[in-house]
Amino acid sequence: MDNVIYLDNAATSRVYPEVLESYKQITLEYFANPNSVHALGQKSSRLLENTRQQILKTLKLKHHEVIFTSGATEANNLAIKGYCLANKNRGNHIITNAGEHPSVLNTVMEMEQFGFEVTVLPLNEKGTIEVSSLREAITKNTILVSIMAVNNETGAINPINEIGQWLKKHPKIVFHVDMVQAIGKVNIPLENVDLFSIAGHKIHGLLGSGLLIKKKNILIKAQNHGGGQENNYRSGTNTLALSASLAKALRIIISEQENNYKNITLLRDRLINYLKENPDKYKINSHFKENPYIVNFSTLHHKASVVVEALSNRNIMVSSLSACHSKKEAFSEVVYQMSHSLPLAKNTIRVSFSHENTLEDVEALITNLDVLIKRIKR
Ligand SMILES: Cc1ncc(COP(=O)(O)O)c(C=O)c1O
Repeated sequence: MDNVIYLDNAATSRVYPEVLESYKQITLEYFANPNSVHALGQKSSRLLENTRQQILKTLKLKHHEVIFTSGATEANNLAIKGYCLANKNRGNHIITNAGEHPSVLNTVMEMEQFGFEVTVLPLNEKGTIEVSSLREAITKNTILVSIMAVNNETGAINPINEIGQWLKKHPKIVFHVDMVQAIGKVNIPLENVDLFSIAGHKIHGLLGSGLLIKKKNILIKAQNHGGGQENNYRSGTNTLALSASLAKALRIIISEQENNYKNITLLRDRLINYLKENPDKYKINSHFKENPYIVNFSTLHHKASVVVEALSNRNIMVSSLSACHSKKEAFSEVVYQMSHSLPLAKNTIRVSFSHENTLEDVEALITNLDVLIKRIKR
């Protein structure tokens, strides 16, 4: 499918060719188990430790450590369950928000079974939390705040730095951030973040690779028990080639971040201008100029799922909420919280860019959207 226009990069992204090449080379050359004491095992072990250091260097972090996981879902689970279960004696209250990915929201809810109380903060009309509502929600029992940096549906950016600075006044509270849609795309200062999660496949690394990065002094309880790998936090033989490929993808995307940002801003602006020129057909749900990677809008008179399917038949891949929900009445909780409108929340379309996209891709999307919106029955 060479002539496909792929505009669903927030769902997953195509691997960088050089990352795939490294993966292959490392698989062939560093096949020995990093825990084996023989020379080949030690060679793998050295590469693994260098990879950890490289990641910290790329992210300019001095007081953190790296735990390799299978993806962000596992990293979010390990951060939340691991922290809560290791620190139950300090308090039993968790704060998160309605915009989180299910790997955070459902994990936080799971903690209720262990005696935790959960506050889910609402979203404002821009799709972010209000810092004042976070302040009000804090109790003497709060031990964890988990707030995503960038929302995966709308691209909205939460005020991570402000929250981190403010939480410094509450040493008992640990701050976890889902960085999946932010890393290598928008600048989020990480010094005041205690734990954060990354997925390889969202940054042109490989599926099956992820990271939980945590401050060294934060205590978490392992969720995988076994041979004690990953500093006892996550047992299982490290998939070295995946770990090294993730480090490489991270290095590339961060080194190209500024350039990509400029180019993708042009694509986003073109699409936004088209949507703005047609206020009778679309309502834009993405409000953050600072994040050009995701454009979310609702169709006003058409079923978004039908439009998305018709675009797909024309080799243009975008995402609609209903495509990934089995229930017919599915709607976007995020857009509903922002708009308080069920029709808008049921008919969202998400376009998400990468460095591979061009202005021609956006022109093709616009041309086809325009034709389809006229042709498809209201
Ligand atoms: C914001 C966010 N967090 C977590 C995840 C889960 O990542 P993974 O697919 O690596 O488990 C996703 C994936 O869609 C995401 O967008």
